Amino acid sequence: MTVKTMHTADVKDLLEKVAGFNQEGGNERVKKIVHRLMHDIFQIVEDFDVTAEEFWQAVYYVGDLGKNGEAALLAPGLGMDKYLDIRMDAEDEQAGLAGGTPRTIEGPLYVAGAPMSEGFARMDDGSDESAETMILTGQVTDENGQPVANAVVDVWHANTMGNYSYFDQSQTDYNLRRRIKTDENGRYTARSIIPAGYGCPPEGSTQALLNLLGRHGNRPAHIHFFIAKPGYKHLTTQINLAGDEYTYDDFAFATREELVVEANRIEDPAKAEQFGLNKPFTEVEFNIQLVATDKPELQSRHERKRALEGEAA
Ligand SMILES: [Fe+2]
Repeated sequence: MTVKTMHTADVKDLLEKVAGFNQEGGNERVKKIVHRLMHDIFQIVEDFDVTAEEFWQAVYYVGDLGKNGEAALLAPGLGMDKYLDIRMDAEDEQAGLAGGTPRTIEGPLYVAGAPMSEGFARMDDGSDESAETMILTGQVTDENGQPVANAVVDVWHANTMGNYSYFDQSQTDYNLRRRIKTDENGRYTARSIIPAGYGCPPEGSTQALLNLLGRHGNRPAHIHFFIAKPGYKHLTTQINLAGDEYTYDDFAFATREELVVEANRIEDPAKAEQFGLNKPFTEVEFNIQLVATDKPELQSRHERKRALEGEAA
């Protein structure tokens, strides 16, 4: 049975009361957004003839999502992070600030306060001896190709199990997380290990919804970056390693063509020696172009909850 009630005075009156339109206090913007949100949810219930059973399942789903701590995982899975990036790209375009290395999503697994070093850092703690050694290197330049010295390249990535230190308590503090200041030539280099891709927790809330959409919850092997330097737009980005099954099929929609990089196996012992290695390794090169801006609000990362943010030096 399909009934239509959205046009009735009863429903209109209910929505206005729900949003506090008849109350003095509160926040006008929140009132308007909640009014629109609840209107659209009511409309979905009407249009799809949502049953009471289905509705309560959805309510319990939201409860479980919070209990599992997966709200910030479902968001990228539903394209929200990507959509915000699309909006920020359009804003940059409008403000004449487009260009440079493209941004992509941050994800929920950053930890603030990683050790800082100059020019070079070793990121792994050496505990995973079977991992492939990675030399990650690149140059930070401005839009004219001039080197940007003293930019802070803040790098974080998963281990070979697809797990991140801090969230995976079996890893040492700040394993695979470092901040590296570029040298006078704008260069940074890190010795680390090649990360693996990972998937959403198989029994979690995010995967449960993805299953209903016929979608997988996997990400390709990738490396996260913040790059910051006063006078330039803060850049939040990631690189995806080419050749991963999910490079172009990332459940979180973070892949961008310009951010797919080749991982090159280097067998030459002389080259290995340069990095103090006595075995072949894989080199990943990621050059970064920053865009100058005098707007202070664009020079730092936007606010969101991040582990240890505001606590660490
Ligand atoms: Fe990640």
